[in-house]
Amino acid sequence: MCGIIGIISNTPVAERLITGLERLEYRGYDSAGIATVVNNEIERRRAPGKLQTLKNLLAEQPLPGMVGIGHTRWATHGAPNAENAHPHANEHVAVVHNGIIENYAEIKNELQTKGYTFSSETDTEVIVHLLTDYLLKGLTPLEAVTQTLSHLHGAFALAIVFAKHPNLMIATRCGSPLVLGVGEYDIMLGSDALALASWAQKLCYLEEGDVVSISKNNNGDFDYQIIDSEGRSVERPLRQSKITAEAASKGEYSHYMLKEIFEQPRAIGETLQSAVDFESKHIDCANFDINWQSLTRLTIIACGTSYYAGMVAKYWFEKYAKLHVDVDIASEFRYREPIFCEGGLTLFLSQSGETIDTLAALNMAKEQKQQTLAIVNVTDSSIARLSDNVLYTAAGPEIGVASTKAFTTQLTLLACLAIVAASKRGKITEEDHQRLTEELIMLPGKISKVLQQDQTFHKCALTISGARDALYLGRGTNYPIALEGALKLKEVSYIHAEGYPAGELKHGPIALIDSAVPVVVLAPHDAWFSKTLSNLQEVMARGGQVICFTDSKGEVELKKQISSSFHLQIIVLPTVPSFVAPILYSIPVQLLAYYVALQKGTDVDQPRNLAKSVTVE
Ligand code: F6R
Repeated sequence: MCGIIGIISNTPVAERLITGLERLEYRGYDSAGIATVVNNEIERRRAPGKLQTLKNLLAEQPLPGMVGIGHTRWATHGAPNAENAHPHANEHVAVVHNGIIENYAEIKNELQTKGYTFSSETDTEVIVHLLTDYLLKGLTPLEAVTQTLSHLHGAFALAIVFAKHPNLMIATRCGSPLVLGVGEYDIMLGSDALALASWAQKLCYLEEGDVVSISKNNNGDFDYQIIDSEGRSVERPLRQSKITAEAASKGEYSHYMLKEIFEQPRAIGETLQSAVDFESKHIDCANFDINWQSLTRLTIIACGTSYYAGMVAKYWFEKYAKLHVDVDIASEFRYREPIFCEGGLTLFLSQSGETIDTLAALNMAKEQKQQTLAIVNVTDSSIARLSDNVLYTAAGPEIGVASTKAFTTQLTLLACLAIVAASKRGKITEEDHQRLTEELIMLPGKISKVLQQDQTFHKCALTISGARDALYLGRGTNYPIALEGALKLKEVSYIHAEGYPAGELKHGPIALIDSAVPVVVLAPHDAWFSKTLSNLQEVMARGGQVICFTDSKGEVELKKQISSSFHLQIIVLPTVPSFVAPILYSIPVQLLAYYVALQKGTDVDQPRNLAKSVTVE
């Protein structure tokens, strides 16, 4: 939700601010803007809509300046127009802000009483005037920032430049991510490390409450100072950056979503490498102090796609580890009065590691003395830091807003964790452990085969692209994948879609079936196949058009049992053991959603109203 960047350099920064914003656009794309300090004055350019509009504006009205900040917005307060676009500024300061100032209305009233006038509907603008109020009282920029922060409630990250201090930038992290980057020629800040790729050789992830002051002296040398939430000057570790600029590029693909779908064999393979000894076929990824044997309950908490990964994991932990599992949506969990059991383990799933509801649920679990474990994709993200233990998926940066490889790598690590839990609880033999591990090891190869069938999904997307509604059905571990398939379609094509457990069809949704509602059925030839087949027959008997993803055995059965006069498209996928089937069956639903969106001409990578990292409620 909003991306921010700031650069202090010895050369003009506007172009790099824009490149950084391009890499942050996944966080919001309602409007964008940059500001620099030129001859002791704040200069800025802002534009509504995608970054391209800002680029066009800059082509007409270039922005000089070697110290600058930039912002790409996901609107919370106020319409996505130029007036509400960041940076917000007056003649003294310019501010970019990611997050929400909860008590802005109250502060705004006080400032208006003092005579300050506002030119936007945003919560951010109060920061500009509060800072100015303190600067005009004679406080130094750092003192003014510290005083201003003492008024603000909410979760936010800020970067600020000052007209009368042209070589200074102050930034803070209070609930939203911020990373400091030190390069050979510049010093910079960004909402994530990707924004700073190729310029920052070293990275420093700021801690909650940190204020960082970065500056350049008259010789052009850079310096920075970090003050922690207690007001003490502190050192934070500087790490070598491993993120390359290629990670932020689309390469040969037309969209990030397609590139990321195709990266899945590699991403899953690398995630397995972090957890599996390929030689002994043994998984030892959770060497934490978790007493799996005595564990009575596992609670999995997440939002959206990550929640669906949690739903799949419930089947695995119950079946193999014989463990009681609850799966909860973070935004519900945090406002209920959940019963925590003593010695329970709470597992948090988040690709970004920043989702505000998941973070709040994690805080709650910690307060209740639950042991906590997180599976995240982003190093040093808030959830990763706060959790007692963390496992990282190796998806790499995911820029397409609709999650693909981050989801399947979550599933991969969850599968590994279920095997570990099952072994440690003595519920499976070493032989079973190795067999299940082998099934995971074989998976990237099978996924590559699905990707080779890419054009099949392109063709069958035609059945869906003209529809207003669609249904996705699955049973067992493929029920959450049906939910995920429906979510993917909604997100990128704007077609209304619902996922259902196939067995629920006749309890209501069958009323929706007619020839205008395509039904996507996920039906590998597994223990549930014959049941799903009956549900499919019920759909066909009512004129429904079915796309069925199955394997070769399933194809034989379908051809035997379904009359050729019905509208049935069978897509045959590689045969896989049922343990790993939900991971493999994720691929066709992603490709289908992608190609439907392509046919509809929607903005696949930046669908309307969405943003990737949901740091506001
Ligand atoms: C959809 C998608 C979202 C996220 C959700 C939680 O494609 O990616 O539903 O899963 O916003 O985000 P994380 O996983 O970052 O906590």
